[in-house]
Amino acid sequence: MEAVIEVKDLKRTYITRRGFLKKEKRMVQAVDGISFSVQRGEIFGLLGQNGAGKTTTIKMLTTLLAPTAGSCKVLGCETFGQERQIRTRINFIFGGEMGVYRRLSARDNLRYFSNLYLIPRREQDERIERILKLVDLADRADDLAETYSKGMIQRLQIARGLINDPEILFMDEPTVGLDPVGARMLRDIIHRLKEQGKTVLLTTHNLAEVEELCDRLIIINKGKVVAGGTPAEIKGGAQSLEDAYVKLIEGVSA
Ligand SMILES: Nc1ncnc2c1ncn2[C@@H]1O[C@H](COP(=O)(O)OP(=O)(O)O)[C@@H](O)[C@H]1O
Ligand SMILES: [Mg+2]
Repeated sequence: MEAVIEVKDLKRTYITRRGFLKKEKRMVQAVDGISFSVQRGEIFGLLGQNGAGKTTTIKMLTTLLAPTAGSCKVLGCETFGQERQIRTRINFIFGGEMGVYRRLSARDNLRYFSNLYLIPRREQDERIERILKLVDLADRADDLAETYSKGMIQRLQIARGLINDPEILFMDEPTVGLDPVGARMLRDIIHRLKEQGKTVLLTTHNLAEVEELCDRLIIINKGKVVAGGTPAEIKGGAQSLEDAYVKLIEGVSA
């Protein structure tokens, strides 16, 4: 077993200013000392209520945000300080965001992003073709993205996230806003990524999705880990994973 993500006592505080001349300081402890690790090849879930600190955690893991305290290692390197070693080997998709160009086709989007990653020209065509097939966009690859459904856009985002052949793919709410068929297609893609040996860390509010996809997960509440393990371990004696989840969240809030 090889831990590809190792987080220890990780914290992140946001300081926001408001009021007259922005003199009033407010501190938000978004991530408050979390620890967990993810093994290579796992699909790992990050669960929690809105505002729990999931996106902040993913931003630190993907080198986009500096931790306030603690250790945050990806592929053996600190995400703050050794980010250059990490960036070419990971990728990320933030669910709500538009990470693709609507005025380009899927194929042209992927060509553009493969140029950004300096992927040699002779490798590009083969790689783009393979990724388009993986995300079920091959037959619409030359239509403009503005003609795509929400599910297709989301699949194109995943394709974009795979262009550098990352060892770890971070997905923040990948199925948010998708209809059942769209969400199912996305889950199928995540299964395929696992078959290819990729590690996936994802957040979602859909507990059925967690049961289907995740090898292990943690539940965070107000920046702290309140439970961790396999879906079956977290479910324990409860009727459903949802029941167990609600109890954990309410137990902590009470
Ligand atoms: N850029 C920011 N500035 C100030 N506060 C923030 C910022 N981003 C997030 N927060 C706050 O940090 C907490 C955790 O947010 P977030 O990580 O986005 O949670 P989640 O993704 O689980 O919904 C929330 O209280 C949120 O309001
Ligand atoms: Mg979030």
